[in-house]
Amino acid sequence: MSNKKIVINKSMNLRGSVKIAGAKNSALGILAAIVCVGEPCIIENVPDISDVALMCSILSKLGVKIDMISKNSIKVDPRNITLTCANFDEIRHMRASYYLLGALLSRFGEASVAMPGGCDFGLRPMDQHIKGFEALGAKCETIGGITSVKCKHLKGGRVYLDVVSVGATINTMIAAVRAEGTTIIENAAKEPHVVDLANFLNSCGADIHGAGIDVITINGVKSLTGTRYQIIPDQIEAGTYMAASVATQSDILITNVIPKHLEAISAKLREIGGEIEFFEDSVRVSCNNKNLRKCNVKTMPYPGFPTDMQPQIVALLSVCEGTSMVTEGVWESRFRYISELRRMGAKVSVDGRLAVIEGVKNLVGTNVKSVDLRAGAAVIIAGLIADGQTRIENISHIERGYENIVGKLSNLGADIKNIIETPEKVFLGAC
Ligand code: EPU
Repeated sequence: MSNKKIVINKSMNLRGSVKIAGAKNSALGILAAIVCVGEPCIIENVPDISDVALMCSILSKLGVKIDMISKNSIKVDPRNITLTCANFDEIRHMRASYYLLGALLSRFGEASVAMPGGCDFGLRPMDQHIKGFEALGAKCETIGGITSVKCKHLKGGRVYLDVVSVGATINTMIAAVRAEGTTIIENAAKEPHVVDLANFLNSCGADIHGAGIDVITINGVKSLTGTRYQIIPDQIEAGTYMAASVATQSDILITNVIPKHLEAISAKLREIGGEIEFFEDSVRVSCNNKNLRKCNVKTMPYPGFPTDMQPQIVALLSVCEGTSMVTEGVWESRFRYISELRRMGAKVSVDGRLAVIEGVKNLVGTNVKSVDLRAGAAVIIAGLIADGQTRIENISHIERGYENIVGKLSNLGADIKNIIETPEKVFLGAC
């Protein structure tokens, strides 16, 4: 059995430019939402990552025709869907498959979807999604790990989300888009991909207002039409290269970004000692300050500091002077990766949702695991700054959400490569 790893040797002072791919979480929502549109759509700037491949495979199994126009453009034709029951293995491997509940319900009046997996951050309930569907008149039940929703004639309703949930906001929006009358979502999530999803649906003829503020109004329309749509750049991929640039005392131009989405991340990186200069759709991140400073971070829903940047900023803070405190304000448990940073010499203690990081002078490379997607990005950053060599296992997590991260870092001058280890031999692989 082959075993793919990433091997990194200490790589400071990176130089050059890196282009950010389309947003993973937008792509997953939009691909699923095409089911409810009912007509072919062409989606551009789709990131070439394994989660997108998995979503395409799930859609194919439902009867959706997928044509790759190019590496980052896909034609999706949902006219001949044959199943409203999605209960196959792939579903359980991806959190975003829950969007099929809203999309199938909207188009066919029913859906059954196996409860999805995804990264392990403790409890990942779906009660707010259900609350949204019920507000539209759907009957919902979960039996044996399969959630079923049913309503032949969805009617607009009002839902107040008890927690700010990206998934519940998007799922309710998708389900409501063709319901009769008006739906109002209060305490909605404001993340960039919520806005992107609403823009996509509006480009198909939907009537959605308020995406990006905390009350979203959806006036149901009878039908939607196919469209050609370009996905926004990935906020978290951009943030990851920004953090890597500060950590490695580099000077990097990060292109294809939306500066507004990077404000919270920039504020913290400046506190630490990075220099950040925004242009229209790019950002230059540099750092020639050997004494990076501690800072405190609390993750929050957008426009707060994103939880999906929490592991990367902890990796950076592990070599900043002083004691930093990072509070996880979104997920119950998102510090499982800390043990990997500790193996590299980081001094971090965790108490519930709080990580206390005592900056050390150096990390030291060793064998570590990527315990989830962003945790993988954190150990890559740690590997770039650690003395010696870092070998990262379980890199399939990283491939779920980062397009060609090894190639992109390598182009910036990092000493990083993929290897495939078999019991007999070690092969050098392509980036
Ligand atoms: N929550 C509930 N009930 C619900 C739904 C959520 O209590 O019905 C809670 C969750 O337990 C969590 C909080 O609400 O404490 C926020 O969860 P949310 O629903 O916003 O998360 P999600 O939609 O499942 C998306 C991203 C995650 C990202 C979060 C928060 C996708 C596919 N995933 O998850 O992305 O961490 O929003 O921004 O969009 C990643 O990309 O690495 C990733 C994990």
